[in-house]
Amino acid sequence: MTLQELRSQALACTRCQLAGGRTQVVFGVGDPHAALMLVGEGPGQQEDLQGEPFVGRSGQLLDKLLHQELGIDRSRCYIANVVKCRPPGNRDPLPAEIEACRPFLDAQLRLVHPAVVVTLGNFASRLLLGRSEGITKLRGRAYRFGDAHLVPTYHPAAALRGGGEVVAGMRADLVRAKRLLAAFAP
Ligand code: URA
Repeated sequence: MTLQELRSQALACTRCQLAGGRTQVVFGVGDPHAALMLVGEGPGQQEDLQGEPFVGRSGQLLDKLLHQELGIDRSRCYIANVVKCRPPGNRDPLPAEIEACRPFLDAQLRLVHPAVVVTLGNFASRLLLGRSEGITKLRGRAYRFGDAHLVPTYHPAAALRGGGEVVAGMRADLVRAKRLLAAFAP
């Protein structure tokens, strides 16, 4: 199975009710062999229209922070979401939707096989760590994740809402990811 084949499967997916409301499946984007993989929550309106993750306001902040803290643009990493289709009105994804979509994310993680995974926000962080605490508790350190390292951080939408302190936390987490990349994927 290649990422392309997996993508074709996702584009035809009707495993949950989100399929009925989507404009496009937002599968994932970036370097299929990236050392760094970012995992968000789910597509918003812009992502649903354009078919690419993090292309709205949150994405602009993410691009800026990637550039400023890691010196890279999005083509150097791989970006995916927990759910590949937009929840109506940007509501939270439901447990059944997350469960239905999980095989796609798991396969993306297997195929890209990054050295460092950065989870953006509660949904991605809780899902991949198998923990129930919120992001404020979970962030601030790295976790072993199979043979990779996982760095949980705030969702950029929370940074847009929360202001300077949240952005500063995100920056610190991205610096943590950068150090891990230098150590494990030089
Ligand atoms: N928020 C997400 O979690 N993912 C996107 O792709 C866009 C906004």
